[in-house]
Amino acid sequence: MRLPHIGTPRRRSLGSLGSLRGGWALAALVACLAALVGAPSAHAADPPLRDLADAKGKVIGTAVTGSKLTGTYGEIAGAQFNWLTPGNAMKWGSVEPTRGSFDWAEADQIVDFAEAHGQEVRGHTLVWHSQNPNWLANGTWTPAQLSQLMNDHIALEVGRYKGRVAAWDVVNEPFNEDGSYRQTLWYNGLGVDYIAQALTAARAADPAAELYINDYNVEGVNAKSTALYNLVRDLKARGVPIDGVGLQAHLILGQVPSTMQQNIQRFADLGLDVAITELDIRMQLPADSAKLTQQAADYKAVMNACLAVSRCTGATVWGFTDSDSWIPDTFPGQGAATPYDENYQPKPAYRAIHEALGGTTTPPTGACTAAYSVTSQWDTGFTGQVRIACSGAALSSWKADWTFGAGQRITQAWNATCTQSGATVRCSNASYNGTVPDGGSVTFGFNGSWSGSNPVPMVTLG
Ligand code: G3I
Repeated sequence: MRLPHIGTPRRRSLGSLGSLRGGWALAALVACLAALVGAPSAHAADPPLRDLADAKGKVIGTAVTGSKLTGTYGEIAGAQFNWLTPGNAMKWGSVEPTRGSFDWAEADQIVDFAEAHGQEVRGHTLVWHSQNPNWLANGTWTPAQLSQLMNDHIALEVGRYKGRVAAWDVVNEPFNEDGSYRQTLWYNGLGVDYIAQALTAARAADPAAELYINDYNVEGVNAKSTALYNLVRDLKARGVPIDGVGLQAHLILGQVPSTMQQNIQRFADLGLDVAITELDIRMQLPADSAKLTQQAADYKAVMNACLAVSRCTGATVWGFTDSDSWIPDTFPGQGAATPYDENYQPKPAYRAIHEALGGTTTPPTGACTAAYSVTSQWDTGFTGQVRIACSGAALSSWKADWTFGAGQRITQAWNATCTQSGATVRCSNASYNGTVPDGGSVTFGFNGSWSGSNPVPMVTLG
């Protein structure tokens, strides 16, 4: 039996002191900022998700987009998660858009970022029917050519990141809903043996990497998950290298399968790890507090199903913020599927994950909070916004005050009237946006100038 990846000596330990020290400093900074801006979930003493997960020896990961790994997005990705998955950057179409011409820039950037933040990387994905380059998808290949292409691709990509990518989704989405094999480039050309070939090639390229088959709608016990179960049982019996199964978990509000823990357990009983690899829980928009409460319960149910089985390594969310989620593009009218809203404010789902991992955060009841963020910044100026949101409470008018540091000055505001006297900024609602209903929010914006540094101030609502 291969050991589960966590705590094995061949990699940086998730709980290593070095990682904790660096992670803690950054995490503490972000936790402080969250508290200063009145984020609804937390006070400064709350540990980030990754510290809770590390303490349990579990993964809490997120899919990321390389180009976004700066500013608030980068801070949260680095501070809250102990694993990263490139959402698109490692797919064949991304890395070899033209045959023989490679673009590793975003994949390299994400792996570098992960290492700088003491995080592990989940490689996604090597053999899939989607997001392949046109030259590959539209080519005509003999079985021998196809096999060569696949094996070379795996050798190149896994070899490039040898020792740096802890686990690979080697084969992605091989099944139809009824449990039959999906008719793909690979299946049609090579038969079901493409799966064993791919796993064998990946093991050869990095013997230390954990090798997974990953699919969706396999979270509960059903025809598709049973087909996956039969496949991995047979692969193991034949000695084909396979370490785990990935349950993507693209779920719908209120529809966490009741058999999820049982399903995870049956894979674990085969001697395999199970990872929740692409967790999100979508809803019909607009979100409201009832839906967000249900979503939190759903996230907690998924986390608990995983945490109840020791071989379940943990969960990765498919984007941590609603501003970086595939759902609205693919399911028009649906969204709000991730633990943070579009303004990087943690939602009840964040608290649910936090609590499932052993955190003691309790949501404030009946609160309106103000969140200050810098939306863009240049050498001497910046644009910022304050979002006032109410949950279990409401406002008929509002004032938002804060104290700037040296060199910060507000120059212009919209959707509010703002004045600055010394370092004190006072903003009050415009005639048309004083009302903030329960479950609603109001945002106002401003331009400012800065010198030295441009820290985020604490906003007081009055
Ligand atoms: O990069 C181009 C950009 O240049 C162009 O302007 C834009 C216009 O549409 O498209 C951009 O590419 C998009 C790409 O995401 C990057 O944002 C593609 O159109 C879009 O199709 C692609 O969607 C990705 C999807 O896989 C493709 O199937 C999602 O981001 C990604 O989250 C999603 O992830 C998959 C997992 O790999 C496997 N499991 C299901 C999951 C959700 O579909």
